[in-house]
Amino acid sequence: MIVKGEVEKVVNNGLGIIRDKNMGVIFIPFALKGELLEVEVTKRGKSFSYGEIKKILNPSRERLEPICPYFGECGGCHFLNTTYQNEIIIKIEILKDLWRKKLDKIEVIKSPRELNYRIRARFHVENGLLGFFKRKTNTLISISNCPLLHERINDSLPFLKNSENFQKIKEITVITNGSEILTDPPIKNSSKRYLELNLERFTNIISPHTFSQANPYAIKAFLPELKKLLEKEDRILEFHAGNGLFSVELAKSTQYVASVESNPISKEFFFLNMKKNKIVNFKFYSATDKKWIKEHSKREISFNKIFLDPPRSGISPWLRNYILNSKFEKIFYLSCNISTQKRDVESFLKGGYKIERVFILDFFPRTHHVESFFVLSR
Ligand SMILES: C[S@@+](CC[C@H](N)C(=O)[O-])C[C@H]1O[C@@H](n2cnc3c(N)ncnc32)[C@H](O)[C@@H]1O
Repeated sequence: MIVKGEVEKVVNNGLGIIRDKNMGVIFIPFALKGELLEVEVTKRGKSFSYGEIKKILNPSRERLEPICPYFGECGGCHFLNTTYQNEIIIKIEILKDLWRKKLDKIEVIKSPRELNYRIRARFHVENGLLGFFKRKTNTLISISNCPLLHERINDSLPFLKNSENFQKIKEITVITNGSEILTDPPIKNSSKRYLELNLERFTNIISPHTFSQANPYAIKAFLPELKKLLEKEDRILEFHAGNGLFSVELAKSTQYVASVESNPISKEFFFLNMKKNKIVNFKFYSATDKKWIKEHSKREISFNKIFLDPPRSGISPWLRNYILNSKFEKIFYLSCNISTQKRDVESFLKGGYKIERVFILDFFPRTHHVESFFVLSR
C-alpha cells in the first residue's frame, strides 16, 4: 500500500512520522522533518504502521547525499543523509519530545569528530567476508570501509581478512588506540589483552574483551565538563564502572570513589587503569548492584553523590530503591537509552529529586543513538 504525506517530525530511533487519516501514525526510517514523501507501508498495525520511502516528492533543505554506498541498506547509520547540525537539532527534539516538553534546557556536547570516530567495532564474518548486517536482517553486507570507523580500523580490514584464523571465526571485535589494533578473538599469536588510549586528561586502558566507549573524541570533550560538576570533598559511589574510565576522573577530582562492576573480566582492566593513572583513593567491588547493596552498602563510608552508567535496560529495581532510601545530594545518570533513563529519572523525581542539568553527549554521530546525562539534586 502506498501513502503520501508530510513528515511531522523525527522521533526516537531516528524514525520520521507521517499521520495518515486512514492508517494513523506511520514510522519511516531516513525521513526528515517537513519532507513530502510517497511511502510504501511495509508493516501494518492497529495503532501504528511502518513504511519505507518510495519517493521523495519534496526533499528537506537539510537533506544531503549520503557519503556511504551502504547507507540505508546497512543498519549502522541513520543520519548520513543530513547535516551534523540538523542531526543535533533532531536529537534535541527527540529528547524534548520523549519528556513531553518538560525539560527546560538541554545542553549539548557535540562530538569533535562526526566521522571516523569509532575506535571499536564488532564485525560479522561469513564465507571469508567481513561486515555488518543488512538493516532488519541477518544478511551480511561485506564492507571495505565504513565512514564512522576510525581510519586505523578501516586500514586494518584487508589485514584481518588475510589472517590465518579468519576463516574459522563468525564475529570479531576490533579496537584501536589510533596506532595499534587489537582484536577478540586474536588474529595472530599475541598475548596482548589491552591497549593504552590517550584521553588528554589521563590514559585509559581499553580491551576488546570488555565494554569500552566507542568515541574517545566525545569522551575527551565530556571529561572537563564532568570535572566541573565534582568537588574535592565529594565521596562518590559509582555503579556500572566497567574498566574504570569515569572512575579515574571521579577519583582524580574528589576525595574518594567506590566503584561497582558486575563483569568479572573488567576487574583486571579496572586495576590497570587505576595503576596507570596512579589513583589510590578508590575501592573496587566486583559485584552486581544487587549483591553490593545486600553485602556491602551498610559497611561502606557514607557517600554524598552517586554516578550511574547502566546498560540499555537502565537501573535495576534494587538499585532504584537503594538510591531513593540513601538520599544522595546528587545523582549523575549517564545513559545510552533515553527511554529507560526517563523511567528511572521519573522515579527519582517522585522521590524528591529535581533535574538540575540535562546534557546530550553526542557519543554516536550519524546514528540515531542519543546518549544523555542527567544531573539531579535534592
Ligand atoms: C554502559 S557500560 C558502562 C561502563 C563504563 N562506565 C564505561 O563507560 O566504560 C555498563 C556497565 O554496567 C555493567 N553492569 C551491567 N549490569 C550490572 C549490574 N547489575 N551491576 C553492576 N554492573 C552492571 C556492565 O558490565 C558494563 O560494564
